[in-house]
Amino acid sequence: MKLPPINPSSDLGSPQNPLLAGMRIRQAVEADLREMEWEGSYKRYRRVYQEVFERTLEGHAVMWVVELPSFGLIGQAFVQFKMHDSSSANGTTRAYLHSFRVRPAMQSQGVGTALMNFIEADLVKRGFRELTLNVAEDNSGAIRLYQRLGYRVLKRIPGRWSYFDENGKLQHVAEPGFRLIKTLA
Ligand SMILES: CC(C)(COP(=O)(O)OP(=O)(O)OC[C@H]1O[C@@H](n2cnc3c(N)ncnc32)[C@H](O)[C@@H]1OP(=O)(O)O)[C@@H](O)C(=O)NCCC(=O)NCCS
Repeated sequence: MKLPPINPSSDLGSPQNPLLAGMRIRQAVEADLREMEWEGSYKRYRRVYQEVFERTLEGHAVMWVVELPSFGLIGQAFVQFKMHDSSSANGTTRAYLHSFRVRPAMQSQGVGTALMNFIEADLVKRGFRELTLNVAEDNSGAIRLYQRLGYRVLKRIPGRWSYFDENGKLQHVAEPGFRLIKTLA
C-alpha cells in the first residue's frame, strides 16, 4: 500500500536555523505534565499523560519534550518500549511512537523532524531496530513528514481507541488511518 505522493521539501535540521540551535530535547519530568496540556488544549489527556509518565518510571516508555529557552515546551513525543500488543512494541526490538506534536506557531520549521531524528537515534542506542506509529488518513501533513523520513505503510487501521478524560469520563476515538513502520539504521 502506498502513501499519498509528497511535494519536494527543503533541507531540515540545518544548524543555521536559529530555532533549532536554541532548542533542547530532554526527558519530561512530572512537573512538565501540566505544561504539556498546552493551556487546556490537551487537558483531556491528563490521565493518559500521567499513565505514560508512570510507565517511564518502570522503564517501559520515555516521554520526550522539546524546550525552547525563554519560551518553554514547544513539542513532545512519547515512545513505548513494551506494550501488550507486541506488534506495536515488544520491549526489545520494536518500539511505538505516539502523542507527537509541535506547537502550531512553531510548526514547519524542522522541530518535528529534529525530534524524530533524535528519537530514532536514541532507540538505536537502546538496541531497537524498528519504530511503529499510527497516523490518521486525513493528516496529510504528518503523512508527508513520515514518508519523507522513510516510514512505510504496514496496513490500514480503524484507529479506534478509548481513554478516560480529566473528569474520569470514558471517551471513544475513531481515527481511521495507517500503521506505519520504519527499520532503524
Ligand atoms: C506533525 C508535526 C508534529 C510535525 O512537526 P513540525 O515541526 O511541523 O515538522 P517539520 O517542520 O520538521 O516538518 C513539517 C514541514 O515543514 C517543512 N520544514 C521543515 N523545516 C523547515 C524550515 N526550516 N523552513 C520551512 N519549512 C520547513 C518540512 O519540509 C515539512 O514539509 P512537508 O509538510 O512538505 O513535509 C506537527 O505538524 C504537529 O504537531 N501536528 C499536529 C499533531 C499531529 O498531527 N501529530 C502527528 C500525529 S501522527
